[in-house]
Amino acid sequence: MSDLWDNALPGFWSVWVIALTLITLVLVVWVVAANAGRDTISNDEPHSHRTTGHEVDGIEEFDNPMPRWWFYLFVATVVFTLGYLALYPGLGNFKGLLGWSQQAQWEEEVAAAEARFGPIFARYHDVPIPELAQNGEAMQIAGRLFANNCAVCHGVGAQGGDGFPNLTDDDWLYGGEPEALLTTLTQGRRGVMPAWAHLGEEAIEDLTQHVLALSELEHDAARAQSGAQRYASFCVACHGANGTGNQALGAPNLTNDIWLYRAPDQSVADAIRQTLTEGRSGVMPAQAPFIGEARVHLVAAYVYSLRFKNADGD
Ligand code: HEC
Ligand code: HEC
Repeated sequence: MSDLWDNALPGFWSVWVIALTLITLVLVVWVVAANAGRDTISNDEPHSHRTTGHEVDGIEEFDNPMPRWWFYLFVATVVFTLGYLALYPGLGNFKGLLGWSQQAQWEEEVAAAEARFGPIFARYHDVPIPELAQNGEAMQIAGRLFANNCAVCHGVGAQGGDGFPNLTDDDWLYGGEPEALLTTLTQGRRGVMPAWAHLGEEAIEDLTQHVLALSELEHDAARAQSGAQRYASFCVACHGANGTGNQALGAPNLTNDIWLYRAPDQSVADAIRQTLTEGRSGVMPAQAPFIGEARVHLVAAYVYSLRFKNADGD
């Protein structure tokens, strides 16, 4: 008998839940029993004109019996409840005669999915990423993995958004080759762009004009000139002498007019000002703990495959 009970709840609360459930059930039975003696009525019988005596503004309340179908619905509910509580968990720590549990059902489903997909993922795991990226069947599965795990941040089409990199262009923070993609996905990434507000607004404006100049956008030449000097002391270490960035640090290329950070209505200049004033720190969460090495390999190949889509022009 004891394996019909578990220790999910402390004893007192188990008894408490059982008592509340049974009391509610008894109340329902009482309501049903109290009405069982009264006439019930089917829809086609004529209604009496007896009233309850309640009257508001000349509107009276009829005292019609409960419809018969409703009465039987109550009876059915009580019978169903008793059966359910006997078979399934519901009464405190009582496990139910069937021994069913959500946990066990979930584990069964996961095991079934593993048995079905495990070998498929394992087979793909040994295929080099550039080759896997050309395998249509594998990329269909990988596309679903992307939709489920990545699209919330990178967008359904992988085109990114403000703070989330576009994965379909050739501009990479950390690199688009297989090794770099695997590292990004397995370990996650954290970009660190310091804030420069302490340099003062003039300096921020000069630097902003210099960054605009790097991407050959409209800028104030004199300010860009003095911004270049500041750039040489504060920024070269990460973004490089020519502003082409550094993939080891995830420091973006500032010369290609592609902006990781830019709100939908923001001008490029305002976006750069904000980056310089407040600093930025994008976080790409490590994926391996969630989806495992085999799926990481597959979805890395999916990201790799996006370059072919670009080349095809679709
Ligand atoms: C410690 C290294 C480091 C230094 C120093 C640094 N940056 Fe950055 N910068 C980064 C990183 C990393 C990012 C990307 C941040 C992210 O991914 O969240 C970034 C982002 C930016 C961006 C945003 C680019 C985009 O695509 O939206 C601009 C603009 C920028 N930096 C300009 C500068 C300027 C100008 C300086 C010098 C005043 C500077 N950075 C100094 C590392 C650095
Ligand atoms: C919670 C949001 C989030 C999720 C989920 C997420 N990413 Fe990211 N990802 C980011 C951010 C933010 C960055 C940029 C990090 C930075 O600024 O340094 C990034 C960076 C990347 C990069 C590096 C891009 C480059 O230019 O080097 C790749 C590749 C990538 N993600 C792929 C994926 C894939 C594939 C998945 C799903 C398995 C995924 N991401 C899930 C937020 C996310």
